[in-house]
Amino acid sequence: MIIRKSPAELEKMRRSGLLVYRVLQTLAGMVEVGVSTLELENAAEKLILDAGARPAFKGYYSAAAGNRYPYVLCTSVNDEIVHGMPSRNKVLKRGDIISIDTGVQLDGYFGDSAITVGVGEISPQLVKLLAVTQESLERAIDKARPGNRLFDICSTVQKHVESNGFTIVREFVGHGIGTELHEEPQVPNYVDRNNENPRLKEGMVLAIEPMVNAGKPQSKVLSDRWTAVSQDGSASAHFEHCVAVTKDGPWVLTRP
Ligand code: MF3
Ligand code: CO
Repeated sequence: MIIRKSPAELEKMRRSGLLVYRVLQTLAGMVEVGVSTLELENAAEKLILDAGARPAFKGYYSAAAGNRYPYVLCTSVNDEIVHGMPSRNKVLKRGDIISIDTGVQLDGYFGDSAITVGVGEISPQLVKLLAVTQESLERAIDKARPGNRLFDICSTVQKHVESNGFTIVREFVGHGIGTELHEEPQVPNYVDRNNENPRLKEGMVLAIEPMVNAGKPQSKVLSDRWTAVSQDGSASAHFEHCVAVTKDGPWVLTRP
């Protein structure tokens, strides 16, 4: 069942969304050569707690991992796709790309967003990977309108990514979001005709999150049970926004 949110609930989700936005913007400003991913983690935790919110990822139980995620952030560098874990020993170098993904729960409602940024100057190929991934998200957001269907979102991401020579990671998907971090429906970044294709209705909120590899699409999970990397070692980008379906069109909750 897809839970639809009232206007009052969307206002609460808006507050969560704007907090996540502020955290990510602050962290993006901290990214530079020599900074460790644990420094980003510590800054994020303080911002979230100071805002009276709860970090949504810390303590999140994954059946696949068989344990609880121990950090506020996922920091996924270069060939890491998602769920990279912050570490004092992971120090950013010139030319790296880093996906920073975080979520909060504020007044009962969740917000979840991710960005990928370059460290210093990055190669033209990586510039294109980031641009295409972000564009695929923007084009998909525009499909989040009453009367459209879920596959309009999925196919829009897929077409833009694949027509630009990059590949879609299939093992991880976007999701509905509300009083749970992960609600129905799943939001894949590709069309599989075996999946359900519900019509989008006012009050639905979707976390759309393309994960895009520069090389082959296959992923694997490292022995830490969380970090997902590309099998071929190619770079991977990730952007995410929470979007409400409203009668006036898509409302991106996770940016001003
Ligand atoms: N943005 C990701 C998601 O929505 C991050 C989840 S990390 C976890 O699935 F720790 F919460 F699992
Ligand atoms: Co998400």
